[in-house]
Amino acid sequence: MTTITIPYIEGDGIGKEITEASLKIIDAAISKYYKDEYKIEWLELLAGGKAFQQVGEYLPQSTIDSIKEYSIGIKGPLTTPVGKGFRSINVTLRQQLDLYTCLRPVKHYKGVPSPVKHPENVNLHIFRENTEDIYAGIEFMRKTKENEKLKNFLINEMNVSKIRFPETSSLGIKPVSEEGSKRLIRAAIQFAIDNNLPSVTLVHKGNIMKYTEGAFRNWGYELAKEEFGDKVIFVKDINSERESTGKIVIKDCIADAFLQNLLLKPQDYSVIATTNLNGDYISDMAAAMVGGIGMAPGANINYETNTAIFEATHGTAPDIAGQGKANPGSLLLSASMMLDYLKLNKAADALRSALEKVICQGKVTADLYANIDNGELLSTAMFAEKIIQNL
Ligand code: NAI
Repeated sequence: MTTITIPYIEGDGIGKEITEASLKIIDAAISKYYKDEYKIEWLELLAGGKAFQQVGEYLPQSTIDSIKEYSIGIKGPLTTPVGKGFRSINVTLRQQLDLYTCLRPVKHYKGVPSPVKHPENVNLHIFRENTEDIYAGIEFMRKTKENEKLKNFLINEMNVSKIRFPETSSLGIKPVSEEGSKRLIRAAIQFAIDNNLPSVTLVHKGNIMKYTEGAFRNWGYELAKEEFGDKVIFVKDINSERESTGKIVIKDCIADAFLQNLLLKPQDYSVIATTNLNGDYISDMAAAMVGGIGMAPGANINYETNTAIFEATHGTAPDIAGQGKANPGSLLLSASMMLDYLKLNKAADALRSALEKVICQGKVTADLYANIDNGELLSTAMFAEKIIQNL
């Protein structure tokens, strides 16, 4: 029997409820499908409100060290104050561990209510760059010393004349590097190859931000050509379907048009590689198309150091915390990604189909119950029990 140690962070708000439910289901799946082979030993790490209460800081160094040591982790959502207070723990974790890919698979599970007519046409793997862009947190509030210094440098030394209201402008910096873009796009293309997927679309706003977003696109094409030349084709090279070549189509789309296209013809897209902020918007809209963020899984991965944190993609839902109303679907599907990552595919598949089966029977938590006819309302814990029964 092999014991796999997996660190976990419970999270704030509904984190406790969905983590308890998910760990229980994972244990049941492992014991059913790998009875004498594997066992998971869960190692709790502190972060967020619980960490602050117990050790006086929101993200203790020991938490980061443990994830580095085990190269893996799973986490519930963590509170981030808007516009003031401490920096996002999520962003800090991603940056400290250099988890440069935020991978968000988006597909429809039967029975989940969706606002679009054909949610089954959505089958995406979104690779969102996770460490750069305007998200890097290089921001200076208007009227501060740092802001003045940067503004004076831009105006006096760089001849920048386009700051519309210099006296009252806060400033932010958008770093987008060749290395950062290429490692993300490399991971996306490799993923498409490994999983036999038809295309990789580079999504950007290069028409406006030419040297950041536009460069991201150009570096993407350059990398695809140099490193994957014999395995890919470019849109301009084909007038026939991919089946005739067996190669992966590399194409690009401007972010606003992409959002529109995604609603109108989602079947045209498979793997998406995009910059940080675009990826944030796209992931949530795509998730809404298949039934909302309560069901959307995600992982933050560094494919070079092989370090990964799997996480619920929604927030802490303070409005329903502690009431047994939360849907553990997002964390559970993230756990299924984790099991796939660990090559425990039988348990991962079982978990996904058990979840789908229970939802198809109309047995759901409050968020889904509100949108289906003749459903049966279950608490988080009862929903978890039903999934275990259907494994
Ligand atoms: P939220 O995702 O917590 O809630 C938005 C709405 O969705 C609420 O009505 C909530 O009840 C519902 N909801 C979310 N997850 C649900 C689930 N599993 N089951 C049923 N309903 C669910 O977003 P909000 O309110 O903007 O953020 C609350 C806090 O969470 C903030 O501090 C924010 O910074 C943080 N947050 C953390 C994230 C993370 O740790 N990865 C991601 C997003 C937000």
